[in-house]
Amino acid sequence: HRHLLGIDQLSPADIVSLLDLADGFVDINRQVEKKLSTLRGRTQINLFFEASTRTQSSFELAGKRLGADVMNMSVGSSSVKKGETLLDTAVTLHAMHPDLIVVRHHSAGAVELLARKVGCSVVNAGDGAHEHPTQALLDALTMRRHKGRLQGLTVAICGDILHSRVARSNILLLSAVGARVRLVAPSTLLPAGIERTGVEIYTDLGTGIRDADVVMMLRLQRERMQGALVPSVREYFHYFGLDAAKLALARPDAIVMHPGPMNRGVEIDSDVADGPQSVIREQVEMGVAVRMAVLEALARNLPNA
Ligand code: CP
Repeated sequence: HRHLLGIDQLSPADIVSLLDLADGFVDINRQVEKKLSTLRGRTQINLFFEASTRTQSSFELAGKRLGADVMNMSVGSSSVKKGETLLDTAVTLHAMHPDLIVVRHHSAGAVELLARKVGCSVVNAGDGAHEHPTQALLDALTMRRHKGRLQGLTVAICGDILHSRVARSNILLLSAVGARVRLVAPSTLLPAGIERTGVEIYTDLGTGIRDADVVMMLRLQRERMQGALVPSVREYFHYFGLDAAKLALARPDAIVMHPGPMNRGVEIDSDVADGPQSVIREQVEMGVAVRMAVLEALARNLPNA
């Protein structure tokens, strides 16, 4: 592939080979000397139109550890603020001859549109409520390292599914590799027609996570909701927040995941977020390795590689 725009473009074999490649990078990242040279001489631009802590910093580290020159475009101080369109920004950056552009944008489909206008490889770092493919890959790597497999695992994805590109990419990836996906959310936070994707739907957290191997909590994206449809935090936590009592219903060896940023006391209690079953910090570590794997895989298809 020339781009990574979504999990929907990857076969199960592509997914497994990216996870295998990432596994090797986890070991390298734990060494004192981490610098490789696969992307030496290459230029990577990180173009983030939306806020990010984990994704942007890990793409920057991933590129640098592979030897690329990495530039972070700070959209807040760019001419986008002066009304420049997405495509004009893309054409401007393209004129500087980057090899890779990593893009996050608030509109679904914007990254694909940009990919059609530039000659280099484009990686989707999250587009609206559409896809966040590297998040699903790092989640899968975390699960596989803990459980030894993905096939047959019961994964409960809980919370604001409606606004979540993380949920969408995870549903696609987990279904492709044969995991059982359960979605747990109030009916107002489930996308219409989602049951047609073959997932199981639950509107009660306790029932939805019963005997699950993986409990993945999602942030309540209140900024994407309007007026009367914004649930009260107290009520939401009571019914859909994960605390120790509810987690006891999952398998005793279940792992707890959250893509971040977390709202403690809204979708997850601090006792659980920082507890022995939480792998949330490990997800961040896997994020660097997975992004190295994606960049390296794309680099193999760059012109003159
Ligand atoms: N999980 C995730 O995408 O986090 P950031 O928004 O901090 O990048």
